[in-house]
Amino acid sequence: MAVTRTFSIIKPDATRRNLTGAVTKKLEDAGLRVVASKRIHMSREQAEGFYAVHKERPFFGELVEFMISGPVVVQVLEGEDAVPANRKVMGATNPADADEGTIRKEFAESIEANSVHGSDSDENAANEIAFFFNEDEIVG
Ligand code: CMP
Repeated sequence: MAVTRTFSIIKPDATRRNLTGAVTKKLEDAGLRVVASKRIHMSREQAEGFYAVHKERPFFGELVEFMISGPVVVQVLEGEDAVPANRKVMGATNPADADEGTIRKEFAESIEANSVHGSDSDENAANEIAFFFNEDEIVG
């Protein structure tokens, strides 16, 4: 195992319900360390760019509207095998399928308002981190 980084977003449904701390505690309890964090209100261009891979999906328009509907917290997480560690504590995309104890099982409202995003590979993590952070904003 190696210490690696992943990228996380605490989504508008979670910030709206004041769950930033509760979600972050779950991440920290899973062995992940927050090495960068900022609360932002994404522009439409940012949301469309970030989710460009889903552009052809039927839910793309609604996904973008949701992600710009309120503030989000973008974070860089560091830990042993950070990508799978984060995906495990997040739980399945659809909260109906998420395991007990996961963030989405406890907090998500729906497949769209599913409280968190996490990178799905080391390569995407590097790209997603670079989309929102300069290297000097990441302090391990
Ligand atoms: P996320 O990990 O942020 O990546 C894309 C997001 O699209 C996903 O989480 C979901 O919140 C959202 N989404 C909305 N509808 C769907 C759907 N039908 N299938 C998959 N993802 C969806």
